[in-house]
This record gives sequence, structure tokens and C-alpha cells, in this order.
Amino acid sequence: MGFYDTNLTIFAYMSKLANEMGAINLSQGFPDFDVDSTLISYVEDAMRKGFNQYAPMPGLPSLRSALSQRHFNDYGVTYHPDTEITITPGATQAIQSVIASTVKPGDEVLLFAPAYDCYAPMVKASGGIPVWAALNPADFTLDHQSFSDRVSDKTKLVIINNPHNPCGSLWSEGDVELLIELQQTYGFYILADEVYEKICFADGGFRSFCTYDALKDALFLVYSFGKTFHATGWKIGYVLAPEPLMSKLRAFYQFAVFSVNTPMQHALARYVAEADYKKISVMYLKKQAFFEEAMKKTAFRALPTYGSYFQLFSYEGISDKNDVDMAEWLTREVGVATIPVSVFYPKRRDDIRHLRFCFAKGDEVLSAAADKLYHAG
Ligand SMILES: Cc1ncc(COP(=O)(O)O)c(C=O)c1O
Repeated sequence: MGFYDTNLTIFAYMSKLANEMGAINLSQGFPDFDVDSTLISYVEDAMRKGFNQYAPMPGLPSLRSALSQRHFNDYGVTYHPDTEITITPGATQAIQSVIASTVKPGDEVLLFAPAYDCYAPMVKASGGIPVWAALNPADFTLDHQSFSDRVSDKTKLVIINNPHNPCGSLWSEGDVELLIELQQTYGFYILADEVYEKICFADGGFRSFCTYDALKDALFLVYSFGKTFHATGWKIGYVLAPEPLMSKLRAFYQFAVFSVNTPMQHALARYVAEADYKKISVMYLKKQAFFEEAMKKTAFRALPTYGSYFQLFSYEGISDKNDVDMAEWLTREVGVATIPVSVFYPKRRDDIRHLRFCFAKGDEVLSAAADKLYHAG
């Protein structure tokens, strides 16, 4: 039985298969190293101090203030802690709140294929219609023609993921110029999923969409503490938006969620104010370089990654299998689990020859995976 015979997401399927086969799991996007023990001690401290009851609906004021300050330090843009920041149970729920509060039945929502897998089902759940524009197949940069052709006055929301999962690509200044031009023509909202903001390898670092004044009034920004502090199991994140957009979002959110885990918020309020984000970026920069170097001895060809903890590798010189079959074969026969890229497209495709590798793993795990892949062909 293969992936297409199950009702599982590819992530659940590959992780299950990796467990069954005892394979090294570079498929699902979670780090295998620990959360900073200081942050853990802050959570324990908050629990012992009795911060165990409901937090206020938009999140703890101290956490929202710390985030407002942090965002200003990083990007020079102010989001007001009272009215423009809301804490959410993970970026996933933030994305759902943005979609549910902006999209009405029949509205079109523009997505770029390949895309992170939760966007389209959430759009459909709100009665919206996903409309797909393309990224260029060679390097996964924005296809300007496709974007311009697919957007129209029916477009209510454009969803952008930058840095990009699964491709590790980034929006260029030219891409953003086109976005600004189209937004000013059609007036759509923008959801920028920037959960990998702190994992960016571009010269000059990451540039958030909020730094473009022309976009700010239409922009929702989504972040994940799970990604930034390698604590994906905590499922806590936040959304930033100007006050008129945020009050729409909270009108939905107050009933859909109401309140997020209180002790985690106390701990994060302390930690965000003091955390060394540069150290996190440097750690991932080293990991990415380490993995790409280790993979050089294999027949897999690295595509450049500019952000996220993922890198695509082409196996064109190794096999003609489609990527789902190749990922399955690698897990069963070689002992390394990855994610096929075709599953991030709206329709099944047999022409993709790339796999996504997660390098948020210990160096010894990455080395062992490269050793096994050396024997793959
Ligand atoms: C692009 C992107 N957005 C959102 C999420 C979800 O983040 P969270 O775990 O905080 O819900 C992920 C997780 O893999 C992701 O890759």
C-alpha cells in the first residue's frame, strides 16, 4: 500500500513509514534538538506562580508588548500591542482566523503553487475559491505573468509564504513591486506567512512585507514561536495587522479560540525580550551549509535555499520514478524519509523530480542520512 491509498497527509504518511522502517526522518518539518532550558524554566516558573487560568482573549499584554518592541527593533515598524497583535494557538490557527475573517462564499483567494498544504482547504472551508498562480518550475521564483493573469477584482485575499516552504525561495524586490501594483489596482488583502523569518540565508537578512508602507494597510502577518524557538509541539504563534483588520479578525477569533495557553505566554513574554535571535539564524545557517556539503558526495543535486529549514534536492540523475514513489522507495530501501514536492500542488503531478529535506536535525543525523543517500544511486 502506498501514500495514494491512504487518507493520511503526506507528512503523517512519511513519518509513519519512517518509524516502521527505522528510517532517518528528514520529512516532517520539526527540529530534533531541544528547546532552550531557560525558556522551559520560565514555563515551569509561570505554572508554579499560579498563572494557570484563562489569559485575556488577544493574549497577555506583557507578551504583546514584548512582540511589539521586538518587531520594531527588527523591522522598524510599530504594531500597537493593544489593538494590532493577537496571540494564537500556532500559525495554523492564525492563518485560519485571517481567512475566516476576510473571505466570504464565492470570493477568490490567490495561492501560489507549490504551497504549504493548509491554505487551500481553509479557503474552501470558508466558501472561498482557491485560484492558483505558478512559481517558476526551475527555481520557484514568482512567475509574474501567471500572477498578473490570475488576479482580478474578484480576488479577496492573496496568500504569500516567505521564506517559502517547501522551496526555500524568497520574494525579490521586483516581485514585491508587482504585488504593490496589483494590490493598488484590485484592493485585495494580503496574508504574509512569515513563520520562517528568523531562518533566512539571504545577504542582508530577511525583509518583512510590513516594511513596505504601500502594503501595510492590507497586510496580515503570521508568525510561529514553534518555528522560531524550535518548539513546534507548543503550537503557539501570533498575528499582526492594522487595527481595522485586526478587529475583523478578533470578531471571529474570540469565539473560535477565545484564549491561548497562559503559562507559555508568561514564559514567552520574558524570553522574547531577551532571546538572541541572531544566534538562532546563525545556527540554521551552519546547519544548512553542513547538510549541503555532506550531500555533495551523493548523486542528489541541491537547489539553492534562501530560507526556512528545508532544502530541495533533485534526483534527476538517479531515477525516473515520480517523486511520491521515489520518496517511498528511499524510505523503504535506503532508510531516509523525505517529502515529495508534487503534494504541494493542487493536482497530482508525475513530472516533478525534487524531494524536500528538513535539515533541522543534529549534525550526526544529517551526516548519517547523507551516508545512506550516497548508496542510493
Ligand atoms: C509555511 C508554514 N506556515 C505555517 C506553519 C504552521 O505553524 P504552526 O506549527 O505554528 O501552526 C508551518 C508549519 O510547518 C509552515 O511551514
